Amino acid sequence: MSIRHFVRFTAAGRILMIPVRFALFGVPPAWRQLRLAARWVFASKEYYNWTYDLTDLNQAYLASYVAVVTGHSLPSIEAYLAELKHDEALRQILRERTLASPDRHSCDVEPRYGRRIGWYAIVRATKPRVIVETGVDRGLGTAVIAAALAKNAAEGAPGTVYATDIVADCGHLVAAPYKKYCELLIGDSIDLLKKFTLPVDIFIHDSDHTPEYEWSEFQAIASRLHPDSLVMSDNSALTSKLRDFANQRGLDFLFFQDQPKDHWWPGDGIGTAFTLGKKVYFPHLPATVT
Ligand SMILES: C[S@@+](CC[C@H](N)C(=O)[O-])C[C@H]1O[C@@H](n2cnc3c(N)ncnc32)[C@H](O)[C@@H]1O
Repeated sequence: MSIRHFVRFTAAGRILMIPVRFALFGVPPAWRQLRLAARWVFASKEYYNWTYDLTDLNQAYLASYVAVVTGHSLPSIEAYLAELKHDEALRQILRERTLASPDRHSCDVEPRYGRRIGWYAIVRATKPRVIVETGVDRGLGTAVIAAALAKNAAEGAPGTVYATDIVADCGHLVAAPYKKYCELLIGDSIDLLKKFTLPVDIFIHDSDHTPEYEWSEFQAIASRLHPDSLVMSDNSALTSKLRDFANQRGLDFLFFQDQPKDHWWPGDGIGTAFTLGKKVYFPHLPATVT
């Protein structure tokens, strides 16, 4: 009997292979994670809401993802991603705000946007008038969105991000000149969403990540959505609630999985409920003369 036959086709061979398979296939990826975690624990100061860059391949896939959910061309989305990548003024403000904050001993100074670059490209491409983001924390996502809104405003398509958080002193990264594109709403998201009266072009769930709370947010904002609204979730790596909501409203759903660069965290992602094949652009009507 050959070794190959013994290993593949006998019970004794299967048992003999258990430690061999563990050493060959189980240990190397676990060892890689351990090395990354050991390096990270000294290189980073974070203890929640991990920030990281995406791998180059993952960024390319994110561009394709954004092109599909917005209906815009891939080159235009890639141009928006490049615009953010080269926005040194925004990075500098984020560094300064971090260094000036009491959180500086538990936050990293260098901004790493991760999947938020996808949020940026979506906002730049579709030119929303009203965005609601639940969950602000330090305000990294809010600042990135506000930076996209500042560029949109310069092109004649202004908008505002209404960002909710239960913590009163959240959002210290959102500073001038981006602050004027952002309104922070402090309180429980669901209470605030129920009182929100404006039609919402883009909704982003990124607050309490329990499935029940995520679902309740979608229900609370549902009456403010219109047929072109994009509904996004930062929680779709963990729950199917946005997919369920898309089904409920007859929308399509796609999920993008983050692939962090040099980080032990497996990554979050972007879920989007949208209409496949529709080019999303929120019209900015010229002011009417009264
Ligand atoms: C994951 S962080 C938000 C991250 C942020 N969007 C970003 O881009 O970095 C979640 C935030 O949700 C807030 N939060 C938790 N429960 C909430 C609730 N019931 N209402 C509003 N905000 C809540 C937390 O205070 C926390 O700041």
